[in-house]
Amino acid sequence: MFSINTICSIFLFLSLFNDATNGQFVNNIPSFNFGNEYYDNTGTEVKSLPDAIKNVEKFIGQIMDASGTPSLVFSISIRGKLIWEKAWGYSDLENNVKANLDTKHRLASISKPITTALIATYVDQGLIHFDDPISKHINVHDFPLKYWNGHLVNITVGQLLDHTAGTHVTTLNDFDNVTIGLNCTQMIHKFADEKLLFKPGTNFAYSNYGYQLLGAIIESVSGKSYQQTMKEFFHKYQLDSTYVETSDLILTNRSHYYRLLNQYLPKENIPTMVYDDLFHLVGWWPSGGLMSTTNDLIKFGNLIINSYKNRTDHSIMSYETLKEMWIKRTTNFPNFPWHPNNDYGYGWFIAYISPQVNPNLKHRNFVWHSGGLIGATTFLIIYPEEEIVAAVFSNKGYVAGLDNIAIYAAESIYPFV
Ligand SMILES: *[C@@H]1O[C@H](CO)[C@@H](O)[C@H](O)[C@H]1NC(C)=O
Ligand SMILES: *[C@@H]1O[C@H](CO)[C@@H](O)[C@H](O)[C@H]1NC(C)=O
Ligand SMILES: *[C@@H]1O[C@H](CO)[C@@H](O)[C@H](O)[C@H]1NC(C)=O
Ligand SMILES: *[C@@H]1O[C@H](CO)[C@@H](O)[C@H](O)[C@H]1NC(C)=O
Ligand SMILES: *[C@@H]1O[C@H](CO)[C@@H](O)[C@H](O)[C@H]1NC(C)=O
Repeated sequence: MFSINTICSIFLFLSLFNDATNGQFVNNIPSFNFGNEYYDNTGTEVKSLPDAIKNVEKFIGQIMDASGTPSLVFSISIRGKLIWEKAWGYSDLENNVKANLDTKHRLASISKPITTALIATYVDQGLIHFDDPISKHINVHDFPLKYWNGHLVNITVGQLLDHTAGTHVTTLNDFDNVTIGLNCTQMIHKFADEKLLFKPGTNFAYSNYGYQLLGAIIESVSGKSYQQTMKEFFHKYQLDSTYVETSDLILTNRSHYYRLLNQYLPKENIPTMVYDDLFHLVGWWPSGGLMSTTNDLIKFGNLIINSYKNRTDHSIMSYETLKEMWIKRTTNFPNFPWHPNNDYGYGWFIAYISPQVNPNLKHRNFVWHSGGLIGATTFLIIYPEEEIVAAVFSNKGYVAGLDNIAIYAAESIYPFV
């Protein structure tokens, strides 16, 4: 007979493995259809900002109950002004530590738009062009030239940014055996000799490895480690609670991470330590290894909006570069899983939610990124025209509904600000 523990371990392993083979290790909200539950819980007319916030808080409570997440943190700003932020629950269940607005969380894939923002500054400085072949920046000894049907093909920087290069899609094995201390350039060796999945620029395959190659490009252009470059970048933009995660970092108010014991005991959370030991995440920084607070992501989102609005004095990249980043490039690719309401630009999902998908929305154009990792689920959304930024974190893996929270809050609060 299997003990309960053995059965649970097998279940957890399989569920992780499935997520991984679907390319969801750094997990994106699987269906992203902004379910109809959204809006249904506000039958009555909302008349004031405090009422709107009360409704959002109730909705957050429902998502927390349904998911069993130990903590949830939420922030929203409109036109550059922080409107509301709050933390619920526990960042550390064992020591009864309440989550607060300083709690640092794993960002998981929200690391991608941040890595992209750094690349964008290099584009503005003329150090990189989006259509540069990556062989211009990465030594062929670190990543060899690639062939398709016997012909030499170029992979461009832009194709890495929008997952159309055909590079390796993550499985669980990617995260074993990583020696702490490797830099991004060394990290890319493991899959460097693999064949491409398709001819670059002809299809979409969500590739964490592609973002690792971008990390190697950053190291090549800067001559410094990715960690050092990002540290300087965070400092420059006063993202003072944003970090490159390493296991030896002593960090005040770092969240603990949890996942469910199993699907039948939805409220029993267990710490992720076992998994952290099995799967070494250190080194996967450009694709998923940054840490932050929701408040820092609000700052980041507003810097991006300033580029969109061409407010050159307080922005990360130029208006022209941001416009290029947000071109919808993946619409016609057969593998693109979010068609037709979403595209992937450079480092961001770009959404237009049609009335057929959700008749209730008043604001249908936004950009977003989600993140999912062992012990963390995250969501960041920007409405560039309305200048809304919202960020939601939970310290548990595979929590559904953070997208709905962000959109519900944006729709509910915007009319009163
Ligand atoms: C850590 O969280 C506590 C609240 O639990 C807060 O008072 C303190 O300022 C935070 N410290 C830092 C360094 O963020
Ligand atoms: C690859 O890029 C180089 C440099 O831009 C260019 O000379 C070459 O023709 C390109 N090769 C292909 C197959 O497009
Ligand atoms: C991990 O590394 C060790 C030592 O280099 C090696 O013997 C082993 O085969 C590696 N395991 C995997 C799964 O790559
Ligand atoms: C990465 O590590 C290798 C091996 O130690 C070293 O040669 C290289 O200079 C490092 N690159 C950076 C950018 O730190
Ligand atoms: C953006 O601002 C710059 C500097 O003020 C100006 O030269 C440029 O024309 C503006 N671009 C657009 C598209 O408004």
